[in-house]
Amino acid sequence: MTDSIKLTIYRRDPDLDTAPKYQTYEIQPEPGQTVLMALYHILENVDKSLAFRASCRSAVCGSCGMHINGKNRLACETQLAPLGNEICIEPLPHLPVLKDLVVDMSSFWRKYEKVRPYLITLKEPPASGKERLQSIPDRKKIDDFIDCILCACCHSACTLDAWSDGYLGPAVLAKAYRFVADTRDEGGAERLKLVGSEEGVLRCHTIFNCTEECPKRIPITFGIQEMKKKVVWGKLTGKM
Ligand code: FES
Repeated sequence: MTDSIKLTIYRRDPDLDTAPKYQTYEIQPEPGQTVLMALYHILENVDKSLAFRASCRSAVCGSCGMHINGKNRLACETQLAPLGNEICIEPLPHLPVLKDLVVDMSSFWRKYEKVRPYLITLKEPPASGKERLQSIPDRKKIDDFIDCILCACCHSACTLDAWSDGYLGPAVLAKAYRFVADTRDEGGAERLKLVGSEEGVLRCHTIFNCTEECPKRIPITFGIQEMKKKVVWGKLTGKM
């Protein structure tokens, strides 16, 4: 029989608790069990008051980002076995806690809206009535960035983002880059203007926390630096 493991979970209900506390649950792990499965096991069998966020259980929806053994990860794709017999689960750092592992994402979404996170087109659609096509090499340029699931793991890991209401932060800048690098997008100049300030790419200190903590391994810092080059060039040549 497999050894039991201890899950120590951050608990706080702002309506009842003045300070957070940690609660430990002992469970018998099953082969292949993920952190999310263990949380559901506790919720359904041990403690119905435990709050956490999840939906797809397949690393697609981005809702189960949490701080597991000192690292931001998706609970639904994180296996228990490699984590050892004592696992600490906390909400994403630097975000206001609504309850237990559920954080308030409002500031994240407010920043996200600012970069117009959708394809901007000025030309008429193709006469064929079909979609705007893109070559395979052009699509490859944005492959990594399209994988972003907006889990906010990078947003929470960036020390600059966490402490600034103004700084757009890595997730939002990565989304801007996804469109700046998209050959079908015609909003490049406007987008670079939106991100080309002290609240945008110029604030990034290339600490790489975002790239390090991204569960999808997106080279976020690279995208930010690519836009920074375009912005600096635009400013030097008087085009911005
Ligand atoms: S539950 Fe959707 S990403 Fe984990």
